[in-house]
Amino acid sequence: MTQRVRITDVSPRDGLQNEPGVIPASDKARLVRALLRAGLDEVEVTSFVSAKWVPQLGDAGEVLCLAADDPRGSTVRSALVPNERGLADFLEHHAAGRVDKLAVFAAASETFSRKNTNGSIGEVIARFSPVIAAAKRIGAPVRGYVSCVIACPFEGPIEPAKVATVAGQLVDAGVDEVDLGDTIGAGTRDTVAEMLDAVFERLGPAWHGVSTGGHGTVTLHLHNTFGRAGECVREALDLGVRSFDGSVAGIGGCPYASTPDRRAPGNIATDTLVRTVHAAGFKTGVDLEALASAAAVARELVAAGGRGPGA
Ligand code: HMG
Ligand code: MG
Repeated sequence: MTQRVRITDVSPRDGLQNEPGVIPASDKARLVRALLRAGLDEVEVTSFVSAKWVPQLGDAGEVLCLAADDPRGSTVRSALVPNERGLADFLEHHAAGRVDKLAVFAAASETFSRKNTNGSIGEVIARFSPVIAAAKRIGAPVRGYVSCVIACPFEGPIEPAKVATVAGQLVDAGVDEVDLGDTIGAGTRDTVAEMLDAVFERLGPAWHGVSTGGHGTVTLHLHNTFGRAGECVREALDLGVRSFDGSVAGIGGCPYASTPDRRAPGNIATDTLVRTVHAAGFKTGVDLEALASAAAVARELVAAGGRGPGA
C-alpha cells in the first residue's frame, strides 16, 4: 500500500511574518481560504506573538475570524503560541471554533533563542509548561518546533546531539509533534541524516514513520536557501520522516534569523515539496491545481505587501 505523507503549509505564518510591509488581514484571510481548499493536512494560519516583536502578524485574531466560516474539510488550522499571553488569545479563538492546534517554538541555539524569544532555551521551554497543560485540558494537539537544527545564523553549525536534547526536552514537556526547523536552509543530505539519526535515537522507535500530526510525529521544516531542500526531503523519507512543512510560492523566513547582510530565506515551496514526495512513491491529500491558485494569491500579496506600509 502506498504510504501517506502529511503536508502542512506555513505560508500565512512563516511566509507573511518576514514581509517588509504589513499585509491587510482580509488579504491574509484570502490566502488562508485558498489554502483550506487545497487538501492540505494542516495550515499554520498565524501567530499569537507580541506585535512589538512581529508587527506583520499583529492581526492574528482578525485573520482567524475572517477565515473562520470557510469549508475546510479535515484541514487542521494551527497558530504559534510563545507564552501564557498568547495562550489566552488561542483559547478564545479555539473556543469559538476558529483554530484547532497550537505550536510552541524553541531552538537548539542559545543565541537564536535569546534573539527570537528573549530567553535561554531552558527558560523558553519552562514558559511552555502552562501552555501545553492548557492545550491538553481542551484536547488541542501541540506541535513543538526546534529551530536551527543544522546551523544557527549567529553561532554556525549546531551539533546533532544538541538538537536531540532539545527535541527530547519538548517531548518530556508534553508536545505531541516535534517539528525540526532548518531555519536558514543550511542542510545537506548528510547533515540532515546525521541530525535525524540523533533525534530518532533520543525519541525512540514510536516516533518513526508517523504521519498523523498527533503524538509521535516528527516533521521536517526546511528553508531552501541553496536549493537543496528537495534532496533533504528525499533523504528524510528514506529515514522514516512522514510529515513535512512547505510554504506556497516558497515565501517565508524568520525575521530574527536575518543578519545585517542576509535576509532570512523562504521555505521549500509546497508544490515542489508535494511533487518530490509523490516522485519518491508516497501519496498526499494535496490537490495541486488548488495549491497553484493559493500560490498565485501568495505571490500577489507579497508583490503588493513587499512595498511596505503606505506604498
Ligand atoms: P518579551 O519582550 O520578553 O515579553 O518577549 P514580555 O512578557 O516582557 O512582554 C513585553 C510586551 O509584549 C508586553 O506588552 C506584553 O503584554 C506583550 P506591554 O506591557 O509592553 O504593552 N506580549 C504579548 N502581546 C501579544 N501576544 C503575546 C505577547 N507576549 C508578550 N503572546 C516574546 C517574549 C516570546 C513574547 C517575544 O520574544 C515574541 O513574541 N517572540 C516571537 C518571535 C517570533 O514570532 N519569531 C518568528 C517565529 S519562529 C520561526 O519563524 C522559526 C520557525 O519557522 C521554525 C524554523 O524555521 O526554524 C517556527
Ligand atoms: Mg521557519
